[in-house]
Amino acid sequence: MDYRRTHTCGELTEANDRETVRLSGWVHRRRDHGGLIFVDLRDRFGLTQLVLNPETIPDAHRLRSEWVITVTGNVLKRKEGMNNPKLSTGGIEVHINEMHILSQAKTPPFSISDEDVETHEDIRLKWRYLDIRRGKIASNLIKRSECMQTVRAFLAENKFLEIQTPILAKSTPEGARDYLVPSRIYPGQFYALPQSPQLFKQLFMISGMDRYFQIAQCFRDEDLRADRQPEFTQIDLEMSFETPEGLMTLMENLMKKIFEAHAGVKVETPFRRMSYQEALEKYGTDRPDLRFGMPLVSLSDIVSASSFTVFLDEIRNLGVVKGLTVKAGSKLSRKEIDDYIAFVQRLGLKGLAWMKMQDGKLQSSIAKFFPDEVLSSLAGKMEAEEGDLIFMAAGEPGRVNLSLDHLRRKLGEDLGLIDKERNEFLWVTDFPLFEWDAEENRLSAVHHPFTAPHPDDIPLLKTEPLKVRSNAYDMILNGYEIGGGSQRIHSMEVQKAIFKLLNITEEEQESRFGFFLEALEYGTPPHLGLAFGLDRIMMLLCNTTNIRDVIAFPKTQKAQDLMLECPSTVEIRQLNDLGIQIAE
Ligand code: AMO
Repeated sequence: MDYRRTHTCGELTEANDRETVRLSGWVHRRRDHGGLIFVDLRDRFGLTQLVLNPETIPDAHRLRSEWVITVTGNVLKRKEGMNNPKLSTGGIEVHINEMHILSQAKTPPFSISDEDVETHEDIRLKWRYLDIRRGKIASNLIKRSECMQTVRAFLAENKFLEIQTPILAKSTPEGARDYLVPSRIYPGQFYALPQSPQLFKQLFMISGMDRYFQIAQCFRDEDLRADRQPEFTQIDLEMSFETPEGLMTLMENLMKKIFEAHAGVKVETPFRRMSYQEALEKYGTDRPDLRFGMPLVSLSDIVSASSFTVFLDEIRNLGVVKGLTVKAGSKLSRKEIDDYIAFVQRLGLKGLAWMKMQDGKLQSSIAKFFPDEVLSSLAGKMEAEEGDLIFMAAGEPGRVNLSLDHLRRKLGEDLGLIDKERNEFLWVTDFPLFEWDAEENRLSAVHHPFTAPHPDDIPLLKTEPLKVRSNAYDMILNGYEIGGGSQRIHSMEVQKAIFKLLNITEEEQESRFGFFLEALEYGTPPHLGLAFGLDRIMMLLCNTTNIRDVIAFPKTQKAQDLMLECPSTVEIRQLNDLGIQIAE
């Protein structure tokens, strides 16, 4: 029997009227109607309505959802008024004269339909191959495939070479824990799965491969979030003899290409730029969502002139006071305000103070601690107008920023301030090169240790390393960090000096990065690069906030694959081969 298709299930229209066709696919739905049986036949291209007469095709009665069949029949225009405008094939139906059942199916654990929103994600992940049959996940994966083609075409056009790098490799420090793979041949020794191809791509520049890219799998054992997976994909690239400006322009054009082709939106370039300092100051985060306003405002100076001890104590303890203005926020109920207070308390703030702008004056139960002129400078600084509400938070600067960033985004969602049609791209630049790791009591790299210091700040390396800016840039879209990169260090001496500042001993430098330090001595061109998180870009293109929706076989928030049931135990024999014993 021939089951090769003449058409897909998404293809036939009135233009095919009276043609004989063969379709193959899955029974999506079966309905019995006045002696005739109607079947919606499904494949990844769409649905086509089949009409079967059980007198000529007795098996039609047996058909059940998800059985696989092949049919031959004649295309006929549907009768007046019977068109289904929701389907691309809604103008026709196929009257079947031959049918073969290719495969029967058990009743699936959930219905193969996008209307199904009840089924818990864990169930869908356990039967992911059925989940992919649903339109939503299937169309996300199709879009992902198309995007990857766009990326490849754009980068190839710009003379990038696509070169693969090893998966069994050595640790690259991107700030997460490594996934390790034990070696059988060298008992007690391990490969590390790459957290990114960072060192390989820099080595390509030393090799003279000039412009490299790869759609690369990366592995990081870190705490998971809605936009994080332990195994994810980067569009990874590196170039020699180029400036950050040149790279940024190219990357803007790549994003423009992707979003215009696959989201059908217009993307304006150049993208906005903001320094890390300004981002933290105004939005409390280095990845601000610029689709709405409501900036944070520093109030420490103004409120120092009050007698509100909650604020004064925090300021005395090197804390800060910052606020934000909720337009027309006076209409928030007491219960809603209390809920926002509880929300920031869960993020570690002691509380939120609030004031309402009413009758031309800020009113609040704490207003008595603020002299009139302080209240009016507060209103001025917060640009508070009649009916607005201001929230103020005091505490350790990092905590205040984090909490107010979350609060701002929550208010943005709750009050419908975010224009979901907009795409706000942004470059954040001038990151500090180092941050203080209080747990380890040493400096750590904000990006990774191969990032070049800002040329103007090199003298500070010796004196005030925490003030040194890096030559790094992150691309932000709608509050998500979709990519990041930097100018790299291309001198062995500078690289060693940075390692030293990071408290990596000579011996450690040698054992972890000896090959790389040596490579830097064989003629290294100035180079720079960036990596995009492909999964995050796909999330945004597919209008989902769940990264698992755009990955074929994702891990859960607890890093498990529910279908494979892994991680899993292995046979003792395998452990013995590896010389590994499991501790109790
Ligand atoms: P970085 O660590 O910033 O840089 O990663 C680049 C981009 O990858 C995405 N990303 C992730 N996506 C999903 N799950 C994760 N766990 C995850 N971690 C990161 C983000 C991020 O912006 N080697 C450098 C790049 C370079 O300097 O060229 C690097 O890996 O979108």
